Amino acid sequence: MLASKFVAARALVLLGCGWIARRHARAARRLGIPLLAASRDAGRARAFAREFAAVDAFGTYEDAVRDPRAAGALVCTPHDRHLRDALTALEAGLHILVEKPLAPTLAEVDRMIGAAGAAGRILMVAENFHFMPAFRHVRRLITGGHLGELRELHLIARGYRRHAGWRLDAGACGGGVLIDAGIHHVHNLRWWGGEPRRVFTLAPPRTVALGGEDSVDLLAELPGGVVGFLANSLGARGLPRFQWSTVTGTNGTCFADNRGRWVLLRGGRGTRLSLFLRDTRGHVALLRAFDEAMRTGTPPETDGAAGRRDLAVVLAAYRSIAERRPVDVQC
Ligand SMILES: NC(=O)c1ccc[n+]([C@@H]2O[C@H](COP(=O)([O-])OP(=O)(O)OC[C@H]3O[C@@H](n4cnc5c(N)ncnc54)[C@H](OP(=O)(O)O)[C@@H]3O)[C@@H](O)[C@H]2O)c1
Repeated sequence: MLASKFVAARALVLLGCGWIARRHARAARRLGIPLLAASRDAGRARAFAREFAAVDAFGTYEDAVRDPRAAGALVCTPHDRHLRDALTALEAGLHILVEKPLAPTLAEVDRMIGAAGAAGRILMVAENFHFMPAFRHVRRLITGGHLGELRELHLIARGYRRHAGWRLDAGACGGGVLIDAGIHHVHNLRWWGGEPRRVFTLAPPRTVALGGEDSVDLLAELPGGVVGFLANSLGARGLPRFQWSTVTGTNGTCFADNRGRWVLLRGGRGTRLSLFLRDTRGHVALLRAFDEAMRTGTPPETDGAAGRRDLAVVLAAYRSIAERRPVDVQC
């Protein structure tokens, strides 16, 4: 597997062979996109390459991005490394798909967007929620007028999970649950409800070890008086695994399973259940969109600006927690 010689410059370099890299590797295999595995540890890269049939393995990120077979890089490292790894890939002439959040600060995101623009390369944030069939269906119900005028969005993503490693380090993570898993739901809040103008956020006392907050309750003022609410927690013991999002308009409500398996629409015209069986987490569609953006030069739906706006809401929420007051979102 490691010795394939004839791979066109279409390969993607995985920077970091951790948890999310495995999801991307499975998606790449489904799409027939060749992979180059890069780890800080050559043995780990080789094992990863064997497991996912990658065409080559590298013991440094720098060597991997310089490989002539590479067209793009997937930044799958801790948040505080994203800018550095993105710049390494851009300097080697690669397009970049960067895991969420693009970086822990807007200043770093601005440098990344500027560098991608100057290099004429695609910058995409790996926001898989945007590519989940169920969540795209919710968006279509909203834009198609099936719910009437939008009124409220309630996104409930609460459970209990312990983390180890870099997520316990505030510097590496840039915060706690909201900047990590929660930013996916912040994306949905924006995508479905429009750009939040102001947020008021509270965080209860922590119960699990993390670099920042383990729970947040975020209230958002959305365009047209629409109200958004996100309850996001890793510190809520005893809850069932089921998590959901509801969007309510003047004509009805849609109720989505956060794992993307189904969406229920209830309202004036009765009840309709839609089931989603393939690529429920959107990883294949996400990678297909990146591949297409690289080939055509067309900016992806989740470009750098979209990733920046997601982060701006998270950072406003953090200021709100610190200052214990509603805070305007700085764009
Ligand atoms: N979209 C999603 O659903 C989703 C889910 C989980 C995570 N993510 C995002 O994906 C990124 C990685 O998260 P993950 O859960 O995959 O983390 P992970 O399992 O810890 O993997 C991160 C990888 O980064 C590399 N790395 C480089 N410098 C490191 C350092 N100083 N400390 C630790 N690892 C270092 C390591 O790979 P090598 O040792 O091989 O170099 C490590 O395996 C984050 O941005 C995270 O928010 C997204």
